[in-house]
Amino acid sequence: MKIGSPEGKLGILIPGLGAVSTTFIAGVDAIIKGRTAPFGSLTQMATIRLGKRTDNRTPKIKDFVPLARLEDLVFGAWDLFPDNGYESALNAQVLSPADLEAARPALEAVKPMKAVFDRRYVKKLDGPHVKSGANKMELAEQLIEDIERFRKLNQTSREVMIWAASTEIYIEASDVHSSLEKFEAGLRNNDPKIPSSMIYAYAALKSGIAFINGAPNLTVDIPAMQELANKMGAPIAGKDFKTGQTLIKTILAPGLKARMLGVDGWFSTNILGNRDGEVLDDPESFKTKEVSKKGALDYIFQPTLYPELYKNLYHKVRINYYPPRGDSKEGWDNIDIFGWMGYKMQIKVDFLCRDSILAAPIVLDLVLFADLAQRAGMKGIQEWLSFYFKSPHVAPNLYPEHDLFIQLIKLKNTLRWMMNEEPITHLGQEYYNEYQ
Ligand SMILES: NC(=O)c1ccc[n+]([C@@H]2O[C@H](COP(=O)([O-])OP(=O)(O)OC[C@H]3O[C@@H](n4cnc5c(N)ncnc54)[C@H](O)[C@@H]3O)[C@@H](O)[C@H]2O)c1
Repeated sequence: MKIGSPEGKLGILIPGLGAVSTTFIAGVDAIIKGRTAPFGSLTQMATIRLGKRTDNRTPKIKDFVPLARLEDLVFGAWDLFPDNGYESALNAQVLSPADLEAARPALEAVKPMKAVFDRRYVKKLDGPHVKSGANKMELAEQLIEDIERFRKLNQTSREVMIWAASTEIYIEASDVHSSLEKFEAGLRNNDPKIPSSMIYAYAALKSGIAFINGAPNLTVDIPAMQELANKMGAPIAGKDFKTGQTLIKTILAPGLKARMLGVDGWFSTNILGNRDGEVLDDPESFKTKEVSKKGALDYIFQPTLYPELYKNLYHKVRINYYPPRGDSKEGWDNIDIFGWMGYKMQIKVDFLCRDSILAAPIVLDLVLFADLAQRAGMKGIQEWLSFYFKSPHVAPNLYPEHDLFIQLIKLKNTLRWMMNEEPITHLGQEYYNEYQ
C-alpha cells in the first residue's frame, strides 16, 4: 500500500473547546516539551509485533507507520463561549494550576471561532459566540470559510476535524439523511432533523477533511455523510469516546463470556459534575448517551447464541449530575453473575476516574490514525478504529464489534496490512507446520 508522507503541519480542527479538548492540547504540549510521557496513547507508547514471536520484531507503532509528529500539530476550535483555551481549561478544572500554567502559551494560542449552535439541540447551553445565517447551508459555508482561513494562516498541509462538543438531543436517521442530495436540500430548507454537529461534519467532508465523532450524536452515522465521505476521499469514524465505565465494561464482559459465566444483571451508575454532566442532565441529551452506552453488552454477550447465559440480562445505565465532583467522575457497576450449577455471585466496581484524562489520549490517537488512513487512501467508515468508541460506526449491513481485545487485534492487523506485513492470527504457526 502506498502511503503519502506525513511531512508538513497537521491541523486539528475541534468543534467544542471544553474539558476534553483543552486537556488534549495541554497534554500534547507537555509531551512535546518533555514534562510528561504520553500515557494512555497507543500511537505513542504501544508496540506492535511483526512476524513470528521468535523474530523479535516489536517496534513502537509510531516507528512502524508514518504518523504525523506531535510537533507538527496545530489546533483550531469553535465554541459558543469566546474564552481562549487557557480560560476554558481553568473553568473545566481538570488540570492542576501548575500543569495549566506550564501549558498556558499553547492553550492561550487557541482562540475559538464563532460556533454553529442552536439551543434546540443542546437545551442546557447558551452562549454569545455564535454564527448567524439565513439557513443551515449558509452556516456550513461559513465553516468552510473558517477552515480555509485556518489553512492559510497556519500553512497546514492536511487537517482532521474531531467533534469534542456537547451531546445533542436524540435524533433518528430519517429521509433527509438518506442521500447527499436530500441532505443538501435539507440544509437549504433548515430541516429540523439537521443539528449543528451535522453542519460541521458536512463542512469538514466537503473540504475533503476526515471527521471523527467523539460524542454519541448521530452526525456521520447516516448515508448522506457516508456518500460525501466516499466522494471526497475522507475518512469518518465514531461514535462516542470509550473512556470510563464503558471501557471497563468492554474489558470485563469479554472475560466473563470467555469463561461461559452467566450474567443476570448489570447496573451502572455515575456521578459527575462537569459541563458534560450538566448537558446530560437534560433527558433528551441523556437519551443519546444512553443508547450509545447500552449497546456494548448485547453485542459482546450475544444472547441469541447463548440464551441460557445472557437472555435475561437486565442492563441499566444512569448518569447523575453532581456538581461537587467536577470532572472527577465516580462510576459504580454492580454485576450479578452466575456459575457452575447456577450459583450466584456479584462483582462490584467503583471506578474513580477522570473523564478528560481518559479521553485526551484517545483524541490524539484518533487524529493521528485518521490522518494516516487518509494518506493511505482509506475513505469512508474506518471500522478498524472501533477500539476507541462506545458505539462503533460500521457499514449498515454489519454489527459492531465491542470486545476491546478483538478491536485491538483488528486495529493492529490493519496497521500490519497497511505496511504489507502478515496479519497475526495467534495460530501458533510453528506447531501447525510441524504437524502437517
Ligand atoms: N470526557 C469523556 O470521557 C468523554 C467520553 C465520551 C464522550 N465524550 C463527549 O465529548 C464531548 C466533550 O466532552 P467535555 O467533557 O469536553 O464537555 P465540555 O462541556 O467541557 O465541552 C464541550 C464544549 O463544546 C461547546 N459546544 C457545545 N455545542 C457546540 C457547538 N455546536 N459548536 C461549538 N462548540 C460547542 C461547549 O460550549 C463546551 O465548551 C461531549 O459530547 C461528551 O459527551 C466525553
